[in-house]
Amino acid sequence: MHQIKVSLNNRSYPIIIADDNFEALAKKLVQLRLGTDAVIITNTRVRRLYARELQNALNTLNISAHIFNVPDSEKSKSISEYVKIISKISAMDTKKRLFLIALGGGVVGDLTGFIAATYKRGIPYIQIPTTLLAQVDSAIGGKTALDLPSGKNLIGAFYQPKLVYSNINLIKSLPSRQIRCGLAEVVKYGIIVDTKLFGYIEKNYKKILDLDNSSLGYIINASSLIKAKIVENDERETTGLRTILNFGHTIGHSLETAAGYSNLDHGEAISIGMVCSAEIAHAMGILPADELKRIIKIMKILNLPQEAKKVDIKAVLGAFLRDKKFINGHIRMVLPSRIGHVFVTENIPYNLIKKVIKKRMAPA
Ligand SMILES: NC(=O)c1ccc[n+]([C@@H]2O[C@H](COP(=O)([O-])OP(=O)(O)OC[C@H]3O[C@@H](n4cnc5c(N)ncnc54)[C@H](O)[C@@H]3O)[C@@H](O)[C@H]2O)c1
Ligand SMILES: [Zn+2]
Repeated sequence: MHQIKVSLNNRSYPIIIADDNFEALAKKLVQLRLGTDAVIITNTRVRRLYARELQNALNTLNISAHIFNVPDSEKSKSISEYVKIISKISAMDTKKRLFLIALGGGVVGDLTGFIAATYKRGIPYIQIPTTLLAQVDSAIGGKTALDLPSGKNLIGAFYQPKLVYSNINLIKSLPSRQIRCGLAEVVKYGIIVDTKLFGYIEKNYKKILDLDNSSLGYIINASSLIKAKIVENDERETTGLRTILNFGHTIGHSLETAAGYSNLDHGEAISIGMVCSAEIAHAMGILPADELKRIIKIMKILNLPQEAKKVDIKAVLGAFLRDKKFINGHIRMVLPSRIGHVFVTENIPYNLIKKVIKKRMAPA
């Protein structure tokens, strides 16, 4: 078991990376004195896999636990689902010491966090991330959100959890595509700040893809540490540091938008985005050729895409230009100068971006 502290004064909390069981978690919750009444928010699929076991472990230590379900879809990050769940909570809330548990991937985590942030102006919550993406990224940092029909994450709050409990065993039931998509974010951490993590993936990718516990533990620990440090130094995305987490995401988001969020998963889109960004950096004379090769190769060995097929390139470029990272006529992007180091720049010729995107995307 590893423990990482996210130090944010009175909003500090531990990230526990474990491969134990929910009994150990329940004991930790008793120690933290979060409350005696838990509401577990989860989705249909994760409920079937893990909710009952969690409920039993809590009950054993005299913590009552209600389970509330949301549909298994990004659509659960909606105002209507929010109102449904928050109404149910208020209807059963006769107790004073209520806390929430997000049991699921990033969708459940973002929704639960937002409910916790707003119900009675804020009640405690913990994150039990069950996807690799949620363990290495979304469960850490206190960004909570709902979507609007006009865009993702348009409603939200910064509201830190009291604990992140990342259990390696919980992600074993994920389909391999979900694992690979989570790995794209891990590769991102390697490129932005951690040469050692990048090298570790290059060397141990087979064990990682085989879901070997010690390899998964290593990458989850390294990634959580990076996310925690960035959040500690830029909790509300005001100093610019958190921006480096957007590496690969500007082009990735445009691709997701153009593909209608349908045939491309987020991790796949950002893999292509990272490859494009690396090629832009190389063409600008910033990233050496051998480093670019390593970036392209790591996507290959993890079976992550390096190019997109059947996309409407005009739609990708259109989405790119509409993106909020297009500031005062300048395109802001995060580019690598070597593996383990990126910088934010606004001096990228648009023609170069267009050329690279066209090269990496085949039209329908
Ligand atoms: N708050 C943040 O900082 C932040 C950061 C990145 C992403 N996000 C958000 O996270 C969401 C994406 O998260 P995600 O990729 O975890 O998606 P998700 O929550 O939709 O989960 C992906 C799929 O895996 C299933 N699943 C979850 N755990 C499982 C398990 N253990 N075994 C089998 N199946 C399981 C889910 O039911 C779902 O079908 C997006 O809404 C995104 O906006 C938030
Ligand atoms: Zn991402």
